[in-house]
Amino acid sequence: MTTLLPASASPAAGSRERRAGFLPYCLPSIGDEEIAEVVDSLRSGWVTTGPKTKRFEDAFAEYAGARHAIAVNSCTAALHLSLAAHDIGPGDEVIVPTLTFCSTANVVEHLGAKPVLVDVDAHGLVTAETIEDAITTRTRAILPVHYAGQAADLDPILALGQRRGIPIIEDAAHASGALYKGRRIGTHGRAVCFSFYATKNMTTGEGGMITTNDDALAARLRLLALHGMSRDAWKRYTAAGSWFYEVIEPGYKDNMTDLQASLGLHQLEKLDSFIERRRAMAARYTAALSDLEGLALPLELPHNRHTWHLFPVQLTNCDRGDFIEALKARNIGASVHFIPVHRHPFYRERYGYTPAQFPVAEALYAGMVSLPLYPKMTPGDEQDVLHSVREILGGPPTIHS
Ligand SMILES: Cc1ncc(COP(=O)(O)O)c(C=O)c1O
Repeated sequence: MTTLLPASASPAAGSRERRAGFLPYCLPSIGDEEIAEVVDSLRSGWVTTGPKTKRFEDAFAEYAGARHAIAVNSCTAALHLSLAAHDIGPGDEVIVPTLTFCSTANVVEHLGAKPVLVDVDAHGLVTAETIEDAITTRTRAILPVHYAGQAADLDPILALGQRRGIPIIEDAAHASGALYKGRRIGTHGRAVCFSFYATKNMTTGEGGMITTNDDALAARLRLLALHGMSRDAWKRYTAAGSWFYEVIEPGYKDNMTDLQASLGLHQLEKLDSFIERRRAMAARYTAALSDLEGLALPLELPHNRHTWHLFPVQLTNCDRGDFIEALKARNIGASVHFIPVHRHPFYRERYGYTPAQFPVAEALYAGMVSLPLYPKMTPGDEQDVLHSVREILGGPPTIHS
């Protein structure tokens, strides 16, 4: 796409269109409660996995309506462990939508298996039909991604998994607090993996969680998350603990620390209010931008309560790079979610994936831009984003409220 942006796309330096300070694409909302809790952990001496991690796991399990929650140090670790706990390895295939962060596919590679990339629909979500076409006798897991914060249509995917005997492991990195058909994301698939990375709807700096209703799977995940040892630090270093442990299998070092859990405990309490704020902002963005030609807006699908982790718009008749530069010239950050996995050199060269195999993801990728949308933004920040988008795209300046 080479359509030129209108002259109004480039503000003169110092003109009224340029914000005074840079608005980052994303910032976390960390309050005094989180800071005090981290300080409390530092003073207590529990700087690794300890009582607060356990409390955070219990609170998250209850929030997600799951029997078990296992806290880990990233969603990447959560995905990797969930696959490892299903003994996925060389010769196996795992189905992954191409419109995702690279880690969804990387973890499959780490285990020596093949990520079989599939296309997404117009909302960036993977569907049961596309997955079914990619199933072979070697398929050992399906990883649907709840792109941008709304669930993929899970019922047909779960039914397909059940019919073909293939576990569904959800990548819910964007979907803490999302609802699918009125039920929280966290127990639909066999294991559900969340991210608490700095940009996510709730954060522990770095961090992740796996929820499951399967007792045996939860036990294996706990074992694998900490060297395969029969006792974690909590069980060894408290007064009731014992020094003795055994390595049941060679596990990984993926445990969450109490410093991270200190943040998580308070972020979880605020999660629903964060989501409500994001939802209200998304509604205002939609009202303010829907009349613009050359811009398609993301939608909340009927079966979902969208958490609006991302607000990815589609530019239909201007160059995405120019648009991002024009935002930057106004001191506003933006991002792209995602460069499809099939485009990365490693995956392209190793498996010979070509853009023609993923027409929908390619079309989405060509015009996608994620606008800043997060609870820490002030009404003034929000107006700056909306005015800027309108000016850059040459729309009349009115912003409907
Ligand atoms: C869809 C998706 N999956 C997985 C991850 C990995 O999460 P983490 O950074 O917690 O490892 C991310 C992170 O951005 C993501 O967006």
